[in-house]
Amino acid sequence: MSAADSQRGSPEAARPAPWQATVLTIFPEAFPGPLGLSLAGRGLEKDIWRLATLDIRDFATDRHRSVDDTPMGGGAGMVMRPDVVDRAIRATAERPGPLIYLSPRGRLLTAEVARELAAGPGVRLLCGRYEGVDQRVLDKHEVVELSIGDYVLSGGEMAALVVLDAAVRLLPGVMGNAESPAEESFERGLLEYPQYTRPAVWEGRAAPQVLLSGHHAAIRDWRRAQAEEITRRRRPDLWARYAAQPETAAASGGGAGRDETSRNDQVREQD
Ligand code: ADE
Repeated sequence: MSAADSQRGSPEAARPAPWQATVLTIFPEAFPGPLGLSLAGRGLEKDIWRLATLDIRDFATDRHRSVDDTPMGGGAGMVMRPDVVDRAIRATAERPGPLIYLSPRGRLLTAEVARELAAGPGVRLLCGRYEGVDQRVLDKHEVVELSIGDYVLSGGEMAALVVLDAAVRLLPGVMGNAESPAEESFERGLLEYPQYTRPAVWEGRAAPQVLLSGHHAAIRDWRRAQAEEITRRRRPDLWARYAAQPETAAASGGGAGRDETSRNDQVREQD
């Protein structure tokens, strides 16, 4: 991070330095992609975060700019070469943030991981292709592996976009107050309650009456009960963790709702 970066001559001297994302990839044209739109795109325009890509192919030394070779020991596909990837990684040494390799073997991306990343100075994301990256270069740089789910993508680029979106939207100033994350799924360990907008009756389906009541405490209780019920039905794993928190157990009385009214207002399963 240069001095110019942290004191960008703006009138807001106290403004923090931009969060820096550095992506190592053989497909730099995949970025910013959808991150140039919507909340993340606004954040880029406002210089709350910055995105740099490094083309791993630029670190190849042969005539064909090759970045991969056949797997040692045999097998399908190609493996990214340690020497080429090593040079690319070393070129990012001065850039801030942990070095993360996107891989289905990694720690699962959760709201907590996104918050951890957003709280730091940025991130360096290594995108693999083919059958992966030679293990020795991952070991040498003590790379942290991160997965976006239990399925295999054809490369790390889509996963990198997901990781960046999940982190960047949490940076101060990216979401307006009106888009606060406080009510979102996972913020309190619960899935989000259902949302409605006008009209109050659409194709014969009425929105819940309580939302039109103007009674803020009743609305809050209804939303909480809905969030609890949806989580209990759809994600027993999250529910067990939520219900085990001491403050939650007291509030929910060990059940799904905080009171009889909300507990009786059951969510109908739609799938
Ligand atoms: N690369 C390929 N599959 C992936 C996944 N599920 N998560 C992160 N990176 C990947």
